[in-house]
Amino acid sequence: MFSKRVPSHLARNRLTEALDARRAAGQPIVDLTLSNPTRAGFDYPPDLLAPLADPDALTYDPRPFGSLDARRAVAREYERHGIVVSPDRLVLTASTSDAYSLLFKLLTDPGDEILVPRPSYPLIDHLTRLDAVDARPYDLEYYGAWTIDFATVERAFTDRTRAVLVVTPNNPTGSFIKRDELDRLAALCAGRTDVAIVADEVFADYELEPGAARAAGRVSSRRDVLSFALGGLSKSVGLPQVKLGWIAAAGPDSLVDAALARLELICDTYLSVSTPAQVAAAALLDRGAAVRAQIAARVGTNYRWLASKSEASSCTCRRAEGGWYAVLEVPSLEPEEDLVVRLLIKDGVLTHPGYFFDFHHASFLVVSLLTPEAAFADGVERILRHFDCSASDRASGGEPPRETEE
Ligand SMILES: Cc1ncc(COP(=O)(O)O)c(C=O)c1O
Repeated sequence: MFSKRVPSHLARNRLTEALDARRAAGQPIVDLTLSNPTRAGFDYPPDLLAPLADPDALTYDPRPFGSLDARRAVAREYERHGIVVSPDRLVLTASTSDAYSLLFKLLTDPGDEILVPRPSYPLIDHLTRLDAVDARPYDLEYYGAWTIDFATVERAFTDRTRAVLVVTPNNPTGSFIKRDELDRLAALCAGRTDVAIVADEVFADYELEPGAARAAGRVSSRRDVLSFALGGLSKSVGLPQVKLGWIAAAGPDSLVDAALARLELICDTYLSVSTPAQVAAAALLDRGAAVRAQIAARVGTNYRWLASKSEASSCTCRRAEGGWYAVLEVPSLEPEEDLVVRLLIKDGVLTHPGYFFDFHHASFLVVSLLTPEAAFADGVERILRHFDCSASDRASGGEPPRETEE
């Protein structure tokens, strides 16, 4: 009866079950998976959302790409990054996820393929599947910094490839695409007339390494390949509940015009962006800078703390250049799923296993740098202690701690 776009197995995984059991038993959890900025203890001005009540929103004036004022406000966001984007080439969306869906409708037919980075965040699998698109991975590899493995990009191309997705900075690796990498990717795409680049830049405001954002390649100024940059309020000002994102189109003029004409029809069909969000966009982007500054300070502090604390341990913090997440390479003593369940039950700390993000070997943990500093330090210390104990247990021939020991 049901579409194959939704997986037939909706069973919960062992980590979710262990989490529910722990919550039901009222046991404390140090949550290093927090991704909701509105629940991370930031100081949101109580009247921050007042612009949503602007009386101008009492009039419905539907426009497929959103109001010009809101698109001008988004263009000013690009100016902050030193990038000139014309409001004519901006399309408002209800979120970045919504933007993905619109672009998949624009670029693909069922069964067409999008090349996606691996590792990357699990939502991409759902987003592609829900639009009947096949996601084919290409690899990011790590040699002291993450880079694109271009041999895997070339191998992943088929005659059904319609776009290459880059997430910059990537979730969870924290790597920005470098200018030379983007040039190389663009050359590969430009050589095939029907392949676009989609760049998810939702975390572009959050640098963990000074200068990394400025040094990154940005698709919004490209002239050679049809390209789309995605952004949104959910990350740029920590307001996911407002539901406002955008697409910035770039590339050869004739292709951009053809793409926008079609996108206009798609957007006009749904008109999914709320009027209050559009009316409030300029004010929210402006006032939200105060939230962004708090988020940036916290993710930076947590990342530096993790990097220095893990130096003297058996775990390695992989270098991240931006974003809200960090990757910890940990001793491979058991399957990752067993590990994250054990960390939760025995040490009371919740983390994401690397396999959620499709790391191609074990063992990795992904931790959220959004976590309030004290909880973050507590959670990381629990992880590091877990491995120091586990490592010495193994060295002395002892068994790893059992889940029932708690
Ligand atoms: C890289 C990336 N892109 C997009 C999204 C979704 O953003 P939005 O809330 O705008 O749909 C997320 C959510 O975590 C993300 O990590």
